[in-house]
Amino acid sequence: MKGVILAGGTGSRLMPLTKVTNKHLLPVYKKPMIYYPIEKLVEMGVSEIFLVCGKEHVGDFVKLLGSGKEFGVNFTYEIQETASGIADALRLAEDFVDGEKFAVILGDNIFEDSFKGELEKFCNGKEEARIFLKEVPDAHRFGVAELNGDIVLGIEEKPAKPKSSFAVTGLYMYDGSKVFDVIAGLKPSKRGEYEITDVNNYFAKKGTLKATFLKGFWSDAGTFASYFRATRLLMEKDQSDCSA
Ligand code: G1P
Repeated sequence: MKGVILAGGTGSRLMPLTKVTNKHLLPVYKKPMIYYPIEKLVEMGVSEIFLVCGKEHVGDFVKLLGSGKEFGVNFTYEIQETASGIADALRLAEDFVDGEKFAVILGDNIFEDSFKGELEKFCNGKEEARIFLKEVPDAHRFGVAELNGDIVLGIEEKPAKPKSSFAVTGLYMYDGSKVFDVIAGLKPSKRGEYEITDVNNYFAKKGTLKATFLKGFWSDAGTFASYFRATRLLMEKDQSDCSA
């Protein structure tokens, strides 16, 4: 099975930590940030990983991760020339995906839940797209889903008044024979980026976007507060696992 990790962007919200290295190479507790999404894909049974990174630090990614042998996978590296959004980065994976179903994970997202079996189920079923939601107290910081059970009716990106407390996390599953046509038809948003939320809303409008609800902790790590939070959650989990 195939997976894509999006690790582009400038990491401007973590300056000056990101002045000489990439956000995804920074340590989060005991490992470089990028290890966590890699390990999640491996756990799902992914053996081919397409890694999109910015051009400034691609050499450091290769130095750290190599061929993928250490993780039991194969890496393909791709460069996103400009930071034009998540959907724009995903566009680069079209040939790699080659019409198959696949998972995408954002390089700064840290999940406690295990997704073992989820991708296989998605690949063997008839679904077009699936997102993963987490109930949070600060939904306005994220994409927020409006729901009817596990059917997603629509997503609002960083709304001032969220319609629910379910944040869209950075894990997505798509039918690779459909999603790239959707991306090709996108227009840049007000902030000048190609938004993953616009991709998801295409499927939501069609009634074919399903949601899985997360039980364990989830955090992004793109701001100082969330970076610290992710580190603390991992440390607390490690300590409770050790004392169990
Ligand atoms: C992106 C997505 C947003 C999602 C978030 C998860 O936001 O646009 O919908 O909730 O990732 O980490 P960004 O962090 O790029 O602002």
